[in-house]
Amino acid sequence: MASFRLALFVAAALIPHYAVAQLRPYYYRSICPNLDLIIRNSVKQSMAQSPISAPATLRLFFHDCAVQGCDASIMIMNSNGDDEQHNPDNLSLKPQGFNTILSAKAAVDSDPQCKYKVSCADIMAIAARESIVQSGGPYYEVELGRYDGKVSTKASVVLPHANFTLDQLNAYFSGLGVGGFTQSEMIALSGGHTLGAADCPFFQYRIGTDPTMDPNFAAQLKSTCSSNPSGFAFLDPSPVTFNNDYFKSLQGGKGLLGSDQVLFSDMRSRGTVNYYATNQGAFFGDFMAAMTKLGRVGVKTAANGEIRRDCRFPN
Ligand code: HEM
Repeated sequence: MASFRLALFVAAALIPHYAVAQLRPYYYRSICPNLDLIIRNSVKQSMAQSPISAPATLRLFFHDCAVQGCDASIMIMNSNGDDEQHNPDNLSLKPQGFNTILSAKAAVDSDPQCKYKVSCADIMAIAARESIVQSGGPYYEVELGRYDGKVSTKASVVLPHANFTLDQLNAYFSGLGVGGFTQSEMIALSGGHTLGAADCPFFQYRIGTDPTMDPNFAAQLKSTCSSNPSGFAFLDPSPVTFNNDYFKSLQGGKGLLGSDQVLFSDMRSRGTVNYYATNQGAFFGDFMAAMTKLGRVGVKTAANGEIRRDCRFPN
């Protein structure tokens, strides 16, 4: 009995490692040889249709991976509304991100060789990379071979909040996936805020109360948010270009979210912010590595997943 229990324990301990081990960049080489090109072109079209599409797609990938792993569970729409999309923390996800994935999936499935053979989770991972590359960011090989999850619930969503302190951010990211993320990896990933925007409710409370905010920046944000109830501001000064401006903004007290600015105002993380602000190559390198690691979180296999035919519904 004891040896049976031991065998069970060993098997259980091996499952996550096995799930990670199946991932590899050329997983679809013979199954769908043009996969990268198909998604590249589809993302290009989505980006041409809307400048919001790249930031929205990158954020969508993070929100998927951070909850139940990178299994496209964020895409699922349950008829009773009990799904990840309907959690309050996901209501601000932009439709352009979902549409980018659905268009890419349609493009992949229009190739007879690829039809119903590529997971939505893998399409999301490649589309996120393409959103980065086509915004001027670094290219990295995306590890592939994820299966799609079959479950999505509101209650499963646990995400970091814009008012988190450094300790709260570290606690959250260190608990993500197998082994968690270090503070430096968390800061590199936060560099995803080089793209896109945030709505006033996420930062308005800081205006005039947060001494770490640059006064001119505060005045600018005040006018943005007071003149328009559905106002927004960009997360860095070059919101459609993937670069290290985000970190330079933090140095100038112009981080939009509390969780951004705290990375500079807290002395324990300031050094990494300064490093990335002065060395874009280092940021790009660390960001690629952290994104690859993010892509390994909670990966599903054929044993607990499927290749979804429609990304919005389990088969
Ligand atoms: C560190 C903890 C994080 C917090 C607290 C956070 C929070 C937020 C918030 C509040 C917004 C604004 C949403 C809106 O107004 O619509 C936002 C936007 C965004 N986030 Fe994060 N985020 C975090 C990490 C990340 C990571 C790791 C990535 C990707 C690597 C990411 C990518 C984005 C992008 C691209 C946007 C812009 C979305 C758009 O313009 O539609 N975030 N985030």
